[in-house]
Amino acid sequence: IDLKPYNTFGVHALANQFIEINHENQLIELYNSGIFKNKFFVLGGGSNILFTQDFEGTIIKIANKGIQHFIEGNNIYVTAAGGEIWNDLVWYCVDHGFPGLENMALIPGTVGASPIQNIGAYGIELMDIMYTCRAFDTMTGEFKTFSNQDCGFSYRDSIFKSKYKGRFIIVSVTYKLNLHSKLNTSYGAIEAELAKRGISNPTIKDIAEVVSHIRVEKLPDPSTIGNAGSFFKNPIIPNFQLEKLKEVYPNIVCFPMDDTHTKVAAGWLIEQCGWKGKEVGEVAIWKNQALVITNKNKATGKEIFEVSSLIIDDVKEKFGITLEREVNIL
Ligand code: EPU
Repeated sequence: IDLKPYNTFGVHALANQFIEINHENQLIELYNSGIFKNKFFVLGGGSNILFTQDFEGTIIKIANKGIQHFIEGNNIYVTAAGGEIWNDLVWYCVDHGFPGLENMALIPGTVGASPIQNIGAYGIELMDIMYTCRAFDTMTGEFKTFSNQDCGFSYRDSIFKSKYKGRFIIVSVTYKLNLHSKLNTSYGAIEAELAKRGISNPTIKDIAEVVSHIRVEKLPDPSTIGNAGSFFKNPIIPNFQLEKLKEVYPNIVCFPMDDTHTKVAAGWLIEQCGWKGKEVGEVAIWKNQALVITNKNKATGKEIFEVSSLIIDDVKEKFGITLEREVNIL
């Protein structure tokens, strides 16, 4: 099977076998059949992956569906199946008047992938709202529930990417929201767009709409231009290194993290190296956001990977900072 329709970069790659999961109990059957003893990879929306070669194993696509909620006092517990589209969950909450997810509107991908890399946008991260997640252990064949603390979340990271890489399959996620939580409009781009629309007292829906608008303006739509959002993480550097850089680059774009570290805008670093809008064959750096690498049409995963290596080299040479890929490379 060709995986082109199953990855938002739209690159060709073959897999030996492809299995779609529509109900979590299928995972037990697969376990009993011994499939997890051989090479496998779990796919959600395919929006954070780059296939650089064929996959000699089984691709397991999580496609179970269902969203439910219950309200207890001011708290709302929303549980969504891993195969639900993330943005559908956001709008389920917006339509029910549940605050908490609106800043993460239009992030591509599925609910099941959301804890793995602790998705985030416009001032909110998944770790701020996740209560528990239920996962299938491919080593023991049992289901296990992880609390928020269990997941070891940090910026675009969790134990599912480190210690437990490839071991657990997330089948559902429960989010804990609060009916009265304050909306987060502090991100500059949101403030500016609200002001432009003359909205001073935004609703949950206003924010979801504004965020969607900002994303559409700045990021390429993966259904027409192959891409996987930010290709790199924003690097976190020690403050003393930042101070040195500031002497040479006083305009460096960064966000303070804590007393000792600062997050630097990778998009800015890449743009300074002259990569914004640049093309190498079928690979192009997005004209409105240098952190996004796109497939013009016929790029291979290998070509995209090679361009990402050139970018890493240039940023390292100019700024002494080593960018880390955010996208999973297979
Ligand atoms: N910038 C530039 N040139 C560029 C791109 C950015 O100078 O080409 C500077 C600008 O000053 C801009 C700042 O960098 O104000 C930050 O850019 P932006 O607001 O677009 O956010 P980002 O740090 O590049 C992160 C996330 C995005 C998320 C946005 C909004 C990561 C790796 N990326 O991008 O998440 O949507 O913030 O919160 O943390 C993703 O993970 O795939 C993703 C798209």
